[in-house]
Amino acid sequence: MRAQRASGGSGRGSSVAADHGVTLREQVRGFLPVRRPTVLRVPVERREARRLARRFRPEQPPSARRRGSGLADVLVLQLELPDRGSVVLKHAHSEPAARALDREWAVLTRLRQDERLGEWRRLVPAPLDRDLDAPLPMITESRLPGRDAATILRARPDTADSVARLALDALAVLHRVTARPEPGAGRADAWVTEPLAAVRGDVPWCRTGPGAAGLTAVGARLRGALDGRTVAVGWTHGDYHPGNVLLDEEGSRVTGIVDWGEARADGPVVVDAATFVLMVRCLRNGADLGPVVAGILHDGALAPEDARLLAGQDTADVADASDVDFVLLAWLWHVAANVTKSPRYGRSRIWYRRAVAPVLAEAVQWPVP
Ligand SMILES: Nc1ncnc2c1ncn2[C@@H]1O[C@H](COP(=O)(O)OP(=O)(O)OP(=O)(O)O)[C@@H](O)[C@H]1O
Ligand SMILES: [Mg+2]
Repeated sequence: MRAQRASGGSGRGSSVAADHGVTLREQVRGFLPVRRPTVLRVPVERREARRLARRFRPEQPPSARRRGSGLADVLVLQLELPDRGSVVLKHAHSEPAARALDREWAVLTRLRQDERLGEWRRLVPAPLDRDLDAPLPMITESRLPGRDAATILRARPDTADSVARLALDALAVLHRVTARPEPGAGRADAWVTEPLAAVRGDVPWCRTGPGAAGLTAVGARLRGALDGRTVAVGWTHGDYHPGNVLLDEEGSRVTGIVDWGEARADGPVVVDAATFVLMVRCLRNGADLGPVVAGILHDGALAPEDARLLAGQDTADVADASDVDFVLLAWLWHVAANVTKSPRYGRSRIWYRRAVAPVLAEAVQWPVP
């Protein structure tokens, strides 16, 4: 008997991007880019940077240099303070972004105080100032040395394997020290149901129709994968991509790991390695995340070189990152993190088509369990 399908989807890339149940206003807004246009963004950011710098030295504001892509609702600045040296300031533009900074502050504090991590803590920024109730909500943290791995990989794609290995090894220390094997089933609400609810709530194309059916299929598959499985549970970065890893000038040593707002002490640690390898694959192929993940799900396996990178990862004889189900979980976490940090992602049809729709089009074709 032919397996029943999770929806009436007619093939890969089928009608999952259709505007089922999406209001006209949402459809129109869907064409706005995720990033605010440069002509509007840059003058506002310059003004904000001056105001923020003046808080440290009103009469002679320190120099403030922008860092990061500015895609999320956070303005990241590097400030040179005469008395304290170089610090990184993060200013939230929205309520969700302020909540993400609050979470990041709490994580940095906990990690820096965790004696078990010893010298490894030098890779984590030290939290310095927190003022999230101010008119311009912000936190500051120590600036770690180095260049981010995404910049290095764009300039030298041939170094992808060695950079990935360094990045995976650096985080493996955190995982080894903090992770314990646990039954996965008890974690399904926090790891699967909550991120799915965030995506369903913030992405209009996932509320009804094939998008919703695709998400339901993703949820069923992930819950099934956790059921009866032992998973290493410990500190998980939660958004481990090359933009969040710093390396020295030669690209031979990890000098820092940043952007800890999505981290949790009780995550499935395999997700970080899966995320990193996925993002490196996107950089290598110049591809969007959605089709890359959909291709892996369709083939039932990672590209052999990606599987080799993950094979060396020590995850204490439990679920491993090259397992396609954990690739799917890494995708879900990444998508949920984006929509949680900035409402502009969920509203954007362009982002939806690039990052989300291809995976859901694949998912609606899975047999109902
Ligand atoms: N503590 C730090 N020390 C050194 N560099 C940092 C630090 N924090 C952030 N950066 C730099 O700023 C960039 C952006 O910071 P972060 O990743 O925390 O913000 P973001 O909102 O995720 O921005 P993006 O959308 O660019 O990823 C990082 O890629 C890194 O290059
Ligand atoms: Mg980042």
